[in-house]
Amino acid sequence: MTNNLSDHTGDEPGARATGSGRRPIRSYVVRGGRLTTSQQRALESYSADYVVPFHAAPLNPGELFGNNQPLVVEIGFGMGDSLLAMAKEQADKNFLGIEVHKPGIGKLLLGIAEQGISNIRIINHDAREVMESCFGAGTVDGIQVFFPDPWHKKRHHKRRLIQTPFVNLLVSRLKPGGMLHLATDWEPYAEQLLEVLEANDRLRNCAGTGNYATPGDRPVTKFERRGRKLGHGVWDLRFTRCTD
Ligand SMILES: C[S@@+](CC[C@H](N)C(=O)[O-])C[C@H]1O[C@@H](n2cnc3c(N)ncnc32)[C@H](O)[C@@H]1O
Repeated sequence: MTNNLSDHTGDEPGARATGSGRRPIRSYVVRGGRLTTSQQRALESYSADYVVPFHAAPLNPGELFGNNQPLVVEIGFGMGDSLLAMAKEQADKNFLGIEVHKPGIGKLLLGIAEQGISNIRIINHDAREVMESCFGAGTVDGIQVFFPDPWHKKRHHKRRLIQTPFVNLLVSRLKPGGMLHLATDWEPYAEQLLEVLEANDRLRNCAGTGNYATPGDRPVTKFERRGRKLGHGVWDLRFTRCTD
């Protein structure tokens, strides 16, 4: 939720040196502190029930959720308000949220417990590694990434999450007919997303070539609300994975 490198703590979940000794380029910075007492308590009380430890091995969603409802993965849910609302509205789907921001995980855990939500699980780890290791090819019904950090400065564009290699990975995890839904409030990033998604021949733009989609029934997110107050626009992109 920041494009400032100065608060980098170097303790990202999953951070490790590459074989060359250089750290991989991360799409996020982990900000320290600022856990409220209730978030801290929620992390202590509810992690065992809803947070799935990261292991570099495929998950069994049926075992995790206790049913075989369709699986939607949300990457970077922030404070989790919109994921909570969506899971509540769409109780016939399971939602797996991936996030590295501890206060957001604590806040979502609190909401899950207070509202008795049973169809959300959380992984606290870098989404790139989770998507690579935890899902088999063609096993996910939907993937959503709402307002990924735009990394405004040109020298930081390499940190943007949505780039061709990651999109290829996401598409490989989607079932044929599965949905990839992205949104951003930064027009140059929206243009890049449209270009990258349309260049992928396994994806079809639900809004028609060259067009942005409507938000549909997606709840407004915290980041989006903040952007709207600042006068930002919003661009949604919905693509389905073609049947092979
Ligand atoms: C700009 S915020 C948007 C949050 C939320 N979707 C919203 O709209 O309010 C982007 C979020 O993505 C998370 N994020 C960025 N890269 C990530 C990664 N590789 N793995 C997991 N989370 C990531 C950040 O921690 C941050 O909370």
